[in-house]
Amino acid sequence: MDRAPFRIAVLASGTGSNLQAIIDAIAGGHLPAQLAGVFSDRPAAPALERARVAGVPAVAVRPRDFANRLEFDEHLFSRVDSVHPDLIVCAGYMRLVSELAVTARPGRMINIHPSLLPAFKGLHTHRQALDAGVAEHGASVHFVSPELDGGPVIAQARVLVLPGDDEATLAARVLRREHPLLLATLQLLAHRRLLLDGNRVLLDGQPLAHPLQLTDDNATLQPPDPINPPAY
Ligand code: GAR
Repeated sequence: MDRAPFRIAVLASGTGSNLQAIIDAIAGGHLPAQLAGVFSDRPAAPALERARVAGVPAVAVRPRDFANRLEFDEHLFSRVDSVHPDLIVCAGYMRLVSELAVTARPGRMINIHPSLLPAFKGLHTHRQALDAGVAEHGASVHFVSPELDGGPVIAQARVLVLPGDDEATLAARVLRREHPLLLATLQLLAHRRLLLDGNRVLLDGQPLAHPLQLTDDNATLQPPDPINPPAY
């Protein structure tokens, strides 16, 4: 008998281009999953409109209607739980998630972050990268832990920082690789090939020594080159 479809809930605060990549991949038959709902802390987030257009339940929960983060998260995640997701994907979700909400869902929440973690946590990552003068920048997908942008990293995509880059050009170059990075990671998760085991990421039952790397043609995730591994 076929397994029930892998159900994804997305949390998004803004534009939702990563969400759109998920919607398109599912519609195109490239991701064996079902989008169970999209949730936002911003009622005007374009991500919610993208969900509605795709016929996916779209829910806004406003932080200002709650006394504090805990009460907000309690309500938000009760709405998320009501769609029975196998996985919660933070895709441009710009709020801290309370420790309680994270620890209640071990290994069931991932985040895409626009830097090569552990470098440049938090906000304005592209500016941080330019200020630091790094030659390489990128994006990471990681399991969410209570520490901001601190959970075990599953996979990364790297881009070169080019002479003359500013925040906008660098952000655009990174974002173009975020979409295939997120989709390739979701492929592995949907096939139940990735698990969180304490602080370790298991791929096919084996711990990952380093994050998987998106190949240059954006096609697949591979372990880092052992001869010439990227600097961490
Ligand atoms: C993406 O670059 C994502 O990595 C980043 O916000 C952008 C959302 O774009 N997330 C964070 O900074 C989380 N701290 P999108 O709304 O077009 O998917």
